Amino acid sequence: MHIREALPDDAEAACSVMRRSIAELCHADHRNDPAILARWMGNKTPQNFRTWIEQLNNSLLVAAEGDVVLGVGSVTDAGRIGLNYVSPDARFQGVSRALLHALEWRGAQRGNSKITLESTKTARRFYLSNGYTEIGKPIEAFGTTSFPMSKIL
Ligand SMILES: CC(C)(COP(=O)(O)OP(=O)(O)OC[C@H]1O[C@@H](n2cnc3c(N)ncnc32)[C@H](O)[C@@H]1OP(=O)(O)O)[C@@H](O)C(=O)NCCC(=O)NCCS
Repeated sequence: MHIREALPDDAEAACSVMRRSIAELCHADHRNDPAILARWMGNKTPQNFRTWIEQLNNSLLVAAEGDVVLGVGSVTDAGRIGLNYVSPDARFQGVSRALLHALEWRGAQRGNSKITLESTKTARRFYLSNGYTEIGKPIEAFGTTSFPMSKIL
């Protein structure tokens, strides 16, 4: 597996990974509520993905094995991680951890000493075990609860 910049040709596969990751792995968050799923997955479209690639203040990375996209992550130049999704086919094989390290590294390269994110319920344990601490109260996003966290690099 390697981690690289996302390319426009990744758009279909990457959106499929994100949508499957939400639908199949994040039950604790969406509880199979169709309205929550629709809101959460609604912006994960190939068209939006290509727009995100072009954003100058945002890095969009994919984890891939050969031609197969296994994970998708993003971090802004201000050090905020916006996406970190693994394919259900590659769960618990180190994909999210490798992506997280790459996103943190990118954030550091952009001059940040701190990384921030909002964790799902599903990923909370993952981030805590990767050195993140909770900051502030949980917030609502897409009808789910998310947990603001940060890590000093
Ligand atoms: C939980 C999740 C983030 C782990 O990522 P992964 O790529 O599958 O797994 P990795 O091998 O990179 O990380 C393994 C770590 O996940 C955590 N983990 C293990 N089992 C877990 C479980 N049942 N539930 C939650 N976290 C678990 C542990 O911290 C584990 O580390 P450890 O083996 O040292 O204890 C991922 O499986 C997942 O559910 N992603 C859904 C999308 C999501 O919520 N993304 C975050 C958006 S903010």
